[in-house]
Amino acid sequence: MSLLEIDKENLPRHVAVIMDGNGRWAKKKGQRRENGHRAGRKAVKRIVESCAELKIKNLTLYAFSTENWNRPKVEIDFLMQLLLLSLKDELKNLNKNNIKFETIGNLDRLPKKISNYLLKVKEQTKNNSALTLTLALSYGSRSEIVNVVREISDKVKNNIISLKKIDESVINDHLYTRHLPDVDLLIRTSGEKRISNFLLWQIAYAELYFTKKMWPDFGKEDLYKAIISYQNRERRFGKTSEQVK
Ligand code: IPE
Ligand code: IPE
Ligand code: MG
Repeated sequence: MSLLEIDKENLPRHVAVIMDGNGRWAKKKGQRRENGHRAGRKAVKRIVESCAELKIKNLTLYAFSTENWNRPKVEIDFLMQLLLLSLKDELKNLNKNNIKFETIGNLDRLPKKISNYLLKVKEQTKNNSALTLTLALSYGSRSEIVNVVREISDKVKNNIISLKKIDESVINDHLYTRHLPDVDLLIRTSGEKRISNFLLWQIAYAELYFTKKMWPDFGKEDLYKAIISYQNRERRFGKTSEQVK
């Protein structure tokens, strides 16, 4: 698979990735899970770089789920450390490469030091426009939807919005992802074929791509493969094949 096989006119507008398999990658090498996460960080760098090169506009990475709070405290602490380090290391590069940084998820649950730094990175990259990189942190799709219901209900109660006006676009505007178009391509590594509470609403018509590669081994070629697979599919959105040709 090479870059040349990619049709630049038919790129996914929004690619989302469930970065899975760090722990198994490390275990297979006889190493600690932490090493897998370190290697996973390098894979993040590769994929962000690659999306920027391809001129993909939106990349969303699942980095830590609401369910991941149930992991051993040492692993959570390690992941938080790694996140803070990465943010500090990468802030300059984000600006150099014109990348806007965003997050989705419940930042209140993160250590204050981290949520503050996240705000800083968002603030300092908010005018960048080549690629929007969104990290899903302490993110769960069901909890996101619960929040949407609460916010809209509150607005109805206070006569800010009428019941009749609630439609799909109103829901979209209340999701954490309100700054993003729908997901076109969802990639999951590590061989698992599940969604794990990621972007349930936003992937309604996404093309799904599963690969057995563990996340730390996922490279540019693998991204090209996923995009070429995406480009070879016929997206019918409920219509007949003749209608969309
Ligand atoms: C993905 O790798 C990273 C996070 C969920 C933080 P895992 O840590 O889930 O690795 P496996 O699935 O145990 O191999
Ligand atoms: C999904 O991976 C969450 C992230 C990649 C951040 P998990 O490893 O937590 O998901 P399950 O437990 O296999 O569903
Ligand atoms: Mg996993």
